[in-house]
Amino acid sequence: MSEPTPQTLTIIRPDDWHLHLRDGAALESVIADTARQFQRAVVMPNLQPPVTTGEQALEYRERILDALLKAGLPAQSFTPLMTLYLTDNTPADEIRGAHATGVIHAVKLYPAGATTNSDAGVTDLLGRCTDALEAMQDIGMPLLVHGEVTDPEVDLFDREAVFIDRVMIPLRKRFPELKVVFEHLTTKEGVDYVSQAEGPIAATITAHHLLYNRNAIFQGGLRPHWYCLPVLKRELHRKALVEAATSGSPRFFLGTDSAPHARGRKEHACGCAGCYTALHAMELYATAFEKAGRLDKLEAFASLNGPAFYGLPVNTGTLTLEKRSFNIPEAVPLGDDELIPLAAGEELGWSVRRA
Ligand code: NCD
Ligand code: ZN
Repeated sequence: MSEPTPQTLTIIRPDDWHLHLRDGAALESVIADTARQFQRAVVMPNLQPPVTTGEQALEYRERILDALLKAGLPAQSFTPLMTLYLTDNTPADEIRGAHATGVIHAVKLYPAGATTNSDAGVTDLLGRCTDALEAMQDIGMPLLVHGEVTDPEVDLFDREAVFIDRVMIPLRKRFPELKVVFEHLTTKEGVDYVSQAEGPIAATITAHHLLYNRNAIFQGGLRPHWYCLPVLKRELHRKALVEAATSGSPRFFLGTDSAPHARGRKEHACGCAGCYTALHAMELYATAFEKAGRLDKLEAFASLNGPAFYGLPVNTGTLTLEKRSFNIPEAVPLGDDELIPLAAGEELGWSVRRA
């Protein structure tokens, strides 16, 4: 017999290990959503131009902290964990210098052309980036991987599975001590690989990949707000992801991949990839864990496994979720424009208690 569902759930304050905050007016619009729920977030460096140097990352960090204050939130309410964008030419010294700042925590690999703002990405990881990878392995700085091949011959839905064989396995063979996070994992093949591989590997999982399969993109018509990369997959993959996230395995942790785009850039002849979930992230994750009957595993996934992998302390505060309906707004402001959150207009069964 299953236990009755609790009316509230209090967990250690969670972190978001994969987040897009953008810059300028957009940053000022979205920062409060994340800071209300998460103590820390790994901030992705795919700005235009990308954040490729330690100096740029420090400047971006200042803009994030300014935006936090402008949103009326105290500085201690949120800590951005900065990242560098790996290019074919990132020098090992840049990595070492960034690491020495103490506020830049990881390096992101975007295969060139794989996703939004990835044109400056890596063309040949093991051909061009070995000095950088050597330095990262040496100092224990994680490589965050967008794990999709960009080969146009490979079907879009197979690009993660093919990436494992073509890039992930050779990379980890060559650098067995390198800490690697397989970002926004979306397939059963990915789950099997991360679960069974030797050495320091982990994966983030988004709320949308736990809640939806690819039918969501086409339900009743083409729905651009369900389009992200890696794209939603078949139901069997969603099930494997739920099993992994709720298993209690320390290799899987929370990363929303919340990726704000102005409404007109999504509802477009060539719409941008990215789902906005920062607004209701923990409500979405709680819904997924409740459906799996594993709410008791949410704290490990959201608050414990990430810091353990990154070698950071666990947060001291708490977050309380209440079994109370949450109506997802139809739209929220994004600078002078607007942003459509994932599942806009729908209702969720959980709400984060306001502090
Ligand atoms: C992200 C973005 O918009 O920056 N988009 C997305 O669909 N997830 C980039 C990324 O993480 O791939
Ligand atoms: Zn992302």
